[in-house]
Amino acid sequence: MKISIPKGTKDILPGEIEKYKYVQTAFADMLENFGYSQIRFPVFEYTELFQRGVGDTTDIVQKEMYTFNDKGGRSVTLRPEGTASVVRSYIENGMSSNTQPVKLYYDITAYRYENVQKGRYREFNQLGAEILGSDSCNADVEVLFMLYSFFNGLGIQGLHLNINSIGCKTCRAEYNSILKEYFSDKTDNMCADCKRRYITNPMRLLDCKVDKCIEIAKDAPMLLDNLCDNCKEHFYNVTAGLDEINIPYIINKRIVRGLDYYVRTVFEFIAEGLGAQNTVCAGGRYDGLVEQLGGTDTPGIGFAMGLERLVETMKNSGFKFPTAKTPVIFIGYIGEKAFKVARTIANELRLKGIYCEIDINDRSLKAQLKFADKKDALYSVVLGDAEIDTNKAIIKNMKTQETKEVSIDSIVRRVVENII
Ligand code: HAM
Repeated sequence: MKISIPKGTKDILPGEIEKYKYVQTAFADMLENFGYSQIRFPVFEYTELFQRGVGDTTDIVQKEMYTFNDKGGRSVTLRPEGTASVVRSYIENGMSSNTQPVKLYYDITAYRYENVQKGRYREFNQLGAEILGSDSCNADVEVLFMLYSFFNGLGIQGLHLNINSIGCKTCRAEYNSILKEYFSDKTDNMCADCKRRYITNPMRLLDCKVDKCIEIAKDAPMLLDNLCDNCKEHFYNVTAGLDEINIPYIINKRIVRGLDYYVRTVFEFIAEGLGAQNTVCAGGRYDGLVEQLGGTDTPGIGFAMGLERLVETMKNSGFKFPTAKTPVIFIGYIGEKAFKVARTIANELRLKGIYCEIDINDRSLKAQLKFADKKDALYSVVLGDAEIDTNKAIIKNMKTQETKEVSIDSIVRRVVENII
């Protein structure tokens, strides 16, 4: 019986993978220019990390985690995101003694048991970064400048930065009671999730996608209008910083984010034309998270972007991705003796960093040349007994059909030095 791929996962095949690699390389290059270093962390962590880090009341922890007991009976979970692991690692590896702030980026797969739809998968790729150890609005502005420039550099059109502030513990406590009061006589008409959110996390009532709940929440008081003085000042400074360096943004009071660790600045880059799953990149501040996970009080800010959604947006913007590498030269052969010489030349070229093709399927010369054509080789050369005996061969430019006689000994040097 045929075995198919699990629902919500996908193979990224040749033809598509080059696009992913292009973005991943551009991301790493950009982040390193801003002083970030790469971090890798495990695909699975102890479940408590996400329960405490992402938050017990979030949809991710309540419904979407791939959690199982390992053979030792410990509950482990496939990472649904990267921030909790980065913070765990920061604490565990004593990074608070490093020069602050610590800037880390990651390129990971993440796992969420979600309802699958366009742009929403159960295994997906995230490019993300975290800054630990800066509570300055300059960190927020720098992150947003970097992201804006990154997306601009990728030629993406119709991607809008939406920002909001969801305050700190102090203003949030007050706001939650204001919100509860607003919703108190409306709970009967809300969806089951929102009934639960009303008790556990009222702010998430603003994020529900169910029509009747959107209608109920439409006149709810907004946290941005209820910030404490310190949070108000922080948000003002962030927007003033963005204005100063001409980064366009939309203040979107409805952005609350689906993870519990956020405080103050939150943001999303939302794309036109992506359908319902149109948030390409999202993030914000999480100043209490390090402490909550057992470290010393350290502020943090970061983001993650969905690679699948980003590549899709770039395609929609007509971005010309680099195509797959094609061979510089194809080395054909007739007979066993010529094969051995051809193989030596091919391998020497490959070890010198040149993409070279040679047939390894015992094809006829005609079939070999067809293969070279399919692979779109730039040059070809065919070796037979006569060529070996005279140390002379003809290199052909497959595009212009021009030919040149060269000594077999010189082929490697000529190709490497590009003097064919
Ligand atoms: P998030 O909003 O859950 O935030 O995810 C960030 C991005 O990952 C989303 O905007 C989306 O592009 C992509 N994404 C999320 N879930 C899926 C999915 N099921 N399928 C495809 N793409 C998806 C976080 O994960 C935070 N850790 C971001 C962050 C870092 N905040 C501070 N630091």
